[in-house]
Amino acid sequence: MVFAKSRSVINLLRSRRSIRIFKPVEIPEEFVKLLVEVAERAPVYMQAYTFIWVKSEEKRTKLYEICGSSAVKNASIILLVCCDLKRVKKMLDMLGHRHVLSSDKHPVETVMSIFETALAVENIVIAAESLGLGSVIIDCPLLYAPTISEMFQLPRGVIPIALLCIGVRNESPPLRPRLPLEIVLHEDVYREASEEELRTFLEKLEKHMELENYVKKYTGKDMKFIDYIKAKTQLNKDVEKENETLSRFLRESFLKI
Ligand SMILES: Cc1cc2nc3c(=O)[nH]c(=O)nc-3n(C[C@H](O)[C@H](O)[C@H](O)COP(=O)(O)O)c2cc1C
Repeated sequence: MVFAKSRSVINLLRSRRSIRIFKPVEIPEEFVKLLVEVAERAPVYMQAYTFIWVKSEEKRTKLYEICGSSAVKNASIILLVCCDLKRVKKMLDMLGHRHVLSSDKHPVETVMSIFETALAVENIVIAAESLGLGSVIIDCPLLYAPTISEMFQLPRGVIPIALLCIGVRNESPPLRPRLPLEIVLHEDVYREASEEELRTFLEKLEKHMELENYVKKYTGKDMKFIDYIKAKTQLNKDVEKENETLSRFLRESFLKI
């Protein structure tokens, strides 16, 4: 089954947007297998990732209750993306040497495992686009890691990072703004962006999101996008406490800097 004509990869990447509203279409199992097969073709360091395909209606409903995103409710395919240092540690244990994952600090493996998990996820995002499907990443599994771990019986060392929701598009949102190339591409040495450059970008972003009605459409909240970002990144006593709990959980799960 083909959902759309194939397009050049560059055109496909240039027009990719996150899709949060999907048509209720069943997607055959072979597509899920194909997507994860191509995820595995991304460059690898230790292949420290596992994808859990969320098939059970009960689990999908519970995820929707926890995450609150309608994308979770409507997506045809939901993959729980996990960073899996447990399997890597088991393989290294089998080799019988004194290895880095048995130590209390392994910054390289910690950072690289997250890096390569993201590469695999992006392969799925691009592959889904090439099949005419849309997708969105939802980060709530990390925020509720202990609850999600219990729900999916994740052992210590397997960390729920995100949900990848995939389906047939039922919306066609505009491209969202990105930082201009001169801010992200530097030549030979680092160049710090000026406050003026950043302010200009933030103004462009706010204008775009207002025109798109982004916050209202996806969260139901009546607020400016900048205020939405500020609310999401606000530091207060509750957030400090949650972060302390999550940091402890991640350290116990082998993510040790
Ligand atoms: C690490 C990460 C976490 C994200 N988490 C969420 C999320 O929880 N909910 C959501 O609606 N979108 C989430 N997104 C999607 C971004 O909101 C989206 O990429 C961004 O708004 C830009 O829109 P675009 O992808 O359409 O260009 C996430 C993206 C990334 C990379």
